[in-house]
Amino acid sequence: MKDIKRTKIKELLNTDTFNREVNIKGWVRTKRGNKKIAFIAVNDGSTIHHIQVVAEKEMFNEDLMRDITTGSCISVNGLLVESMGKGQTVEIQAQEIELYGSADPQVYPLQKKGHTLEFLREIAHLRPRTNTFGAVLRIRHAMSYAIHKFFNDSGFYYLHSPIITGSDAEGAGAMFRVTTLDMQNPPKAKDGSIDYTQDFFGKETNLTVSGQLEAELGALALSEVYTFGPTFRAENSNTPRHLAEFWMIEPEMAFYDIHDDMDLAEDFLQYLMKYALENCKDDLEFLNKMYDESLIERIRFIVDNEFQRIDYTTAIDVLKQSGQKFEFPVEWGTDLQSEHERYLVEQHYERPVIITNYPKSIKAFYMKQNDDGKTVRAMDVLFPKIGEIIGGSQREENLERLKSWVNELNIPEKDIWWYLDTRKFGTAPHSGFGLGFERLILFMTGMSNIRDVIPFPRTPKNAEF
Ligand code: 4AD
Ligand code: MG
Repeated sequence: MKDIKRTKIKELLNTDTFNREVNIKGWVRTKRGNKKIAFIAVNDGSTIHHIQVVAEKEMFNEDLMRDITTGSCISVNGLLVESMGKGQTVEIQAQEIELYGSADPQVYPLQKKGHTLEFLREIAHLRPRTNTFGAVLRIRHAMSYAIHKFFNDSGFYYLHSPIITGSDAEGAGAMFRVTTLDMQNPPKAKDGSIDYTQDFFGKETNLTVSGQLEAELGALALSEVYTFGPTFRAENSNTPRHLAEFWMIEPEMAFYDIHDDMDLAEDFLQYLMKYALENCKDDLEFLNKMYDESLIERIRFIVDNEFQRIDYTTAIDVLKQSGQKFEFPVEWGTDLQSEHERYLVEQHYERPVIITNYPKSIKAFYMKQNDDGKTVRAMDVLFPKIGEIIGGSQREENLERLKSWVNELNIPEKDIWWYLDTRKFGTAPHSGFGLGFERLILFMTGMSNIRDVIPFPRTPKNAEF
């Protein structure tokens, strides 16, 4: 084959210089035609759109033409021309075709269109080849980039918090143990328990549930930092909104109070929505058409409307007076369930809601305690269709108050002496929050199951791919 430099399909579909020789490489989505001519739709992942390759069969080897089937991978040299066909702007008149890899139509799982998302989960190794997952993965990428851009442009530093942690103080969920001990025959201490001093790190270690505590250390030196990494929770919660491995973005800011924290969360989310509208247009239009007719409208609504900010106590009053029958009872002091959160957002306020001042008893030890002795400066951002998308708070910067809560919870001080040290040396008011990346992508794509917005979902009893 003639050596022509490859051009991405996205670029060719946007060009206005025709009648030139080009090369494309990609995977065949469909092949139609008749005895004389084949129309081959090729996609290389650079865009949701395919390019049409027109091949006059007599110019090519018969076996080659037979083996170019849905799923196969080809390289095409040809003339880029303006297309006569409806809905196409450009096409390639093939001169040379090389088959990199065939895909036997008898067994290729994506032979036909219209598979269910459930089926596609069973072939997670191939589902990026579908239009839907191509769109989701491109949006995921765009959002990652926009997150780094937002923080970089706002003067934040990206802090890499550890994935293996020796602290389980955060209490955000059950953890996955990390060990190199022989589980058949672990070394035992005198009292019969496993002797972790002989383990790799000389102590018990786990996969982190959050990078927050480390982000706080960073903020109390660099002022504004953020983490963006995988986090792990071993709860057995099989819901459409929980993963055992998910990515979280956790900004942490010195000198921010809870109001600054909420302002940042709102600006950040609106920035991301706006970025997607401007940069992911084709993919959003596809998802809007195929899965969720109000997707783009909903994203735009977030950009254009202020979030409602209310106290937890107000939220409880609204829910009690709603006359709704909830599965879980509403009582001051209990955590809001997703049905409650969605009622507030979707029916009552009809916009994103930020709830603050939650009862101390249902929140984490590091949150700043209000003077009422009952509530803390926590804030959760609730989104339509999702429920909680962000959880955060102002942090307790006072050493004595922090210590007394730590003691109440029986967290051994020797496990978090390093965290307490920041309150001992140059403590400062500070705040932060965590955005669940897959919850964001759920919202941005209109998908309804979190397993469909991450390339390789980890959920109970599922880590095949
Ligand atoms: O509310 P969470 O547990 O807060 C924290 O972990 C704090 N350390 C954050 C901070 O203040 N820096 O989790 C934060 C967000 C949730 O709002 C939700 O979007 C997401 O993380 N999340 C999950 N996403 C997918 N699967 C799970 N199992 C999740 N658990 C939490
Ligand atoms: Mg939370």
